[in-house]
Amino acid sequence: MKLLVVGGGGREHAIIRCLKKNPTVEVIYALPGNGGIAADAVCVPIGATEIDKIVAFALENQIDYAVVAPDDPLVLGCVDALEEKGIPCFGPRANAAIIEGSKVFAKNLMKKYGIPTAQYEVFDDMDAALSYLDTAPIPTVIKADGLALGKGVIIAGTREEAKTAVRDMMEGHIFGVSGDKIVIEEFLTGPEVSVLSFTDGKVVRPMVSSMDHKRAGDNDTGLNTGGMGTIAPNPYYTPEVAERCMKEIFLPTIAAMNAEGRTFRGCLYFGLMITPDGPRVIEYNCRFGDPETQVVLPLLESDLLTIMLACTNGTLADTEVKFSDKHACCVITASAGYPVRYQKGFPITMTEEAAAHTYVAGAKLVDGNLLTSGGRVTGTTAVADSLEQAIREAYRMAEGVEFENAYRRSDIGKRAMQAGK
Ligand code: AMP
Ligand code: GLY
Repeated sequence: MKLLVVGGGGREHAIIRCLKKNPTVEVIYALPGNGGIAADAVCVPIGATEIDKIVAFALENQIDYAVVAPDDPLVLGCVDALEEKGIPCFGPRANAAIIEGSKVFAKNLMKKYGIPTAQYEVFDDMDAALSYLDTAPIPTVIKADGLALGKGVIIAGTREEAKTAVRDMMEGHIFGVSGDKIVIEEFLTGPEVSVLSFTDGKVVRPMVSSMDHKRAGDNDTGLNTGGMGTIAPNPYYTPEVAERCMKEIFLPTIAAMNAEGRTFRGCLYFGLMITPDGPRVIEYNCRFGDPETQVVLPLLESDLLTIMLACTNGTLADTEVKFSDKHACCVITASAGYPVRYQKGFPITMTEEAAAHTYVAGAKLVDGNLLTSGGRVTGTTAVADSLEQAIREAYRMAEGVEFENAYRRSDIGKRAMQAGK
């Protein structure tokens, strides 16, 4: 089969490595891919949101199956456009990707169908939002409605901070039109769990649970990032919690999307908080998480391409989705200064062992040399019998990835090691 993967980060590298294990795969094109992905796929310089060019490329190259990984092309209708031309895809159509594309849509869906989430109010008028904040419980959480590169959520510890966030979004347009509407919601507490799931719109098969580490600094300090590391499985996701999530969240969400005429096929990501009152949905993503994918897929024992095709064809009920009971840890190596200001263009060297266990996120090839080109540069994943071993091995191998300015958090997995203690 000739495959096309839309996207060019560490997540896409992990997806491509996993797809390659299927012996029917002849070639994988990555659009645009990156300098590291080029070792595993044919990279083509077409951007992930250049939908017309993606469709034209797929037709010219007789692509058999396309995997659309990032949120923006999904929300923009990349799957719709490819399917219209007869190219089957993994990923939701735009009318289902809205579950991530609009937080207002997601919140209203959960309210309508009784899916547990934080209490909230929606505002499209700034003065109404500001006066609501005069009496709202503090801390409070302000969310821009639309996509905002993972930065559209502000946790405000004071009324003034909350009002500043509202003004920044609605008057200052710091997230563009994404902030024209906002959600103000209840502040919840508890450990966070990411659960990615495969769904064909009929059944839902959760993948192994994981834990992201979103803050830039050790001990969850500093700014929010795209994610500085992950571990799987997440020890806070006990069998009891998993059972409740299936009954109270996963199945009702699939049913709700069907009832709305927005059948979701692809990877549905549940961002959960395990509160003292039970699991709550913090967010939905319409795609694989990054860097969750870099720990989840290395634990997948079944064939990824077979599962993806089953999601597209509606045969997931008859398809094996099996995960190993080992542990995985992924440590991101970033450019110092990420997520604010950082230098790029430094040569990257990797030991053979590190390269074999590293997914490349932000690098480009220049005259055959791999140079840093982004904030998050690589993710190094180890799989082991225990979490402790996986963490130790991931750090040991990540040391084999070197470039000027390299920065890693030193405590990926620490919180998970403390679970139950
Ligand atoms: P999101 O982009 O929706 O995942 O939000 C980013 C982060 O903000 C989440 O991973 C949580 O840590 C935090 N967050 C979002 N909503 C809430 C909430 N209602 N209560 C507490 N923390 C939240
Ligand atoms: N790691 C969180 C996300 O992919 O949104």
